[in-house]
Amino acid sequence: MGAPVEPESVRHVACVGAGVIGGGWVAHFLARGYRVTAWDPAPDAEQKLRRLVDAAWPALTELGLAPGASRDALTVTSTLDEAVAGAEFVQESAPEDLELKQDLLARIDAATPAGVVVSSSTSGYGMTEMQQRCATPERLVVGHPFNPPYLIPLVEVVGGERTAPEAVRWASRFFEVAGKSVITMDREVPGFIANRLQEALWREALHMVAEGEATVEQIDASITEGPGLRWPFLGPCLTFHLAGGEGGMAHMLDHFGPSLKSPWTRLEAPELTAELRDRMVEGCEETADGRSIADLVADRDRAVIAVLRAVREVRGGGA
Ligand SMILES: NC(=O)c1ccc[n+]([C@@H]2O[C@H](COP(=O)([O-])OP(=O)(O)OC[C@H]3O[C@@H](n4cnc5c(N)ncnc54)[C@H](O)[C@@H]3O)[C@@H](O)[C@H]2O)c1
Repeated sequence: MGAPVEPESVRHVACVGAGVIGGGWVAHFLARGYRVTAWDPAPDAEQKLRRLVDAAWPALTELGLAPGASRDALTVTSTLDEAVAGAEFVQESAPEDLELKQDLLARIDAATPAGVVVSSSTSGYGMTEMQQRCATPERLVVGHPFNPPYLIPLVEVVGGERTAPEAVRWASRFFEVAGKSVITMDREVPGFIANRLQEALWREALHMVAEGEATVEQIDASITEGPGLRWPFLGPCLTFHLAGGEGGMAHMLDHFGPSLKSPWTRLEAPELTAELRDRMVEGCEETADGRSIADLVADRDRAVIAVLRAVREVRGGGA
């Protein structure tokens, strides 16, 4: 495919669509020291964008700006072509509408210098369906962020059927250099990884409210006062690895496996085959990366205390 510059050498990024997410990307790239050109067809887009960047800047300054980072490095252009003309990377964040994305990505593809990687912020479309009208679809990837992109590190990167593997590798490396935490997926899954997990929780919450089983307040408190405090540093798998005590994930699955048949969610559980059990156990060992259960417990306890203190401080309750 041959991107014109290495991911480490990118200096100029274009952002197409500058609402909540596009504006958040602009703030992130400015804070990392990039020159940013942005285009959005809304008549009041520039004022809104500059307000968003101004509102984000104190937090970004506190987190630490890259050398030379400046809000003056932002240019809002009056045409799409001007925005992408000299760009070394393009991030599209237009509304979640398949027709619109197909047309817009084709226009971006036509106007962007050859080989430059173009990434879409889509929350759930596959690149295979979005890249259909592009003349050079091999450079198009999904780079799915989380709101606000200038604070939440994760970006999920995945290509479509016609994307060159090289473009996926280039984009993943670029996002890392630009200060993001990257998960590179090797196959398209609707909703990617994190949105599927969020959505499972969300749909169950809606079911519980609809059935009168729990109030909105109880649902939110059940997460913010419960499992949510562990999730910033232990994902759902290592959390349950520790639920198995010294026996870890293996004991947890052998002990609680039968609960998968209990009506604890409207989602159907997969069959807990020996293969799935072993994959979970091995995956936890790999993720633990040499840390014993005792090490993980000690780290978890320190982190929960730090998170509790941070939350209490923000709520004004003192540490
Ligand atoms: N909001 C979120 O939490 C979130 C999280 C991750 C990904 N996303 C994805 O990011 C994308 C943008 O979502 P958002 O929440 O920023 O929406 P938004 O409505 O805040 O912003 C969309 C922007 O796109 C502009 N726009 C409209 N037509 C356009 C066109 N043809 N070309 C370029 N720009 C155009 C609008 O003027 C607006 O400023 C969507 O694909 C969405 O699924 C959103």
